[in-house]
Amino acid sequence: MLQEFLDQLSDWQTKATAALESVETLEALMSFQSEFLGKKSALQTFLKQIKDFSPEEKRAAGPAVQSLQQFIRDGFATKQSVLETAALEARLAEDWLDTTKSLPRVQGAMHPLSHVQYKIEDIFTRMGFQIADGPEVETEWNNFDALNIPPTHPARDMQDTFFVDRQHEDSRQNTVLRTHTSNLQIRSMLEQGAPLRLIAPGRVYRNEELDATHDAVFYQFECLVVDEGISMAHLKGTIEKFLEAFFEKPVKFRFRPGYFPFVEPGLEVDIWFEVPGKPGKWLELLGAGMVHPEVLKNCNIDPDKYSGFAFGLGLTRLAMMTYSIDDLRWLNQPKVDFLSQF
Ligand code: PHE
Repeated sequence: MLQEFLDQLSDWQTKATAALESVETLEALMSFQSEFLGKKSALQTFLKQIKDFSPEEKRAAGPAVQSLQQFIRDGFATKQSVLETAALEARLAEDWLDTTKSLPRVQGAMHPLSHVQYKIEDIFTRMGFQIADGPEVETEWNNFDALNIPPTHPARDMQDTFFVDRQHEDSRQNTVLRTHTSNLQIRSMLEQGAPLRLIAPGRVYRNEELDATHDAVFYQFECLVVDEGISMAHLKGTIEKFLEAFFEKPVKFRFRPGYFPFVEPGLEVDIWFEVPGKPGKWLELLGAGMVHPEVLKNCNIDPDKYSGFAFGLGLTRLAMMTYSIDDLRWLNQPKVDFLSQF
């Protein structure tokens, strides 16, 4: 009886070995486990049968079942680790990533507005202009009053203003988010006096209805020249030279009368804009004019001795034109995919 039992064990061991050999996947290994090591497996039956033997026989039957159990467990564990390693390697081979290849996709890229700004700065520094910078939170006086825009002036409504602090009587103490870069005219003239030749690129804010071409935050740059004998001819020449250098070809532009309290006369400048496949059109690009004598006076510059011109241009619009970007929101919420095109 004992011998028969031991023979059964050894048959079972042969069967388990063969079954294990044919296992090629982790799923198959799981079925092997339940068949050969599970609660309903032959092994459990063998274990239960031990109690039917005499104490003498048990000393042989017990260890024999235990060693069969150990044999199957070891075989299972070995197979499991082989299959798991293979599965991991397969996944690694599949998920393999060439980091040198993917680098350009995630690398930082220069913002189109920066491209445009640097190009403009380049053009003007070559013409001997300096680059001025100033704060975005500006006094009401620098942003409005000194530019000949008194509190009651309707022009204040033309530029829907974000006020930061308007509780003071004195407009030099109240603050706003600057609505244009023209505040740099005042700051520069007060700091440096005349003569003066500068551009001032920067971010400006207006409380506007938002859509594809209007955002509350956009970019402008200001140009200011003050010297003896400055005339409209200088203004026109500078704009022409600038536009040609920027677009790298002759540009068609036109002057229209425009109103800005801080210039007299005031102009708006349109440029003729064509994209392949579409009819050309005039686009309003900048506001310009001769610096108003009141503004010079506010900055302690003698209007009988000096004159000047100024213009302000939408950097955002220029970037949109340059790169055919039709929705301004791309510029203010850029994604790497978007940026990497430039
Ligand atoms: N500051 C004006 C604007 O925001 C533009 C401008 C600048 C006009 C300088 C004339 C002279 O629209």
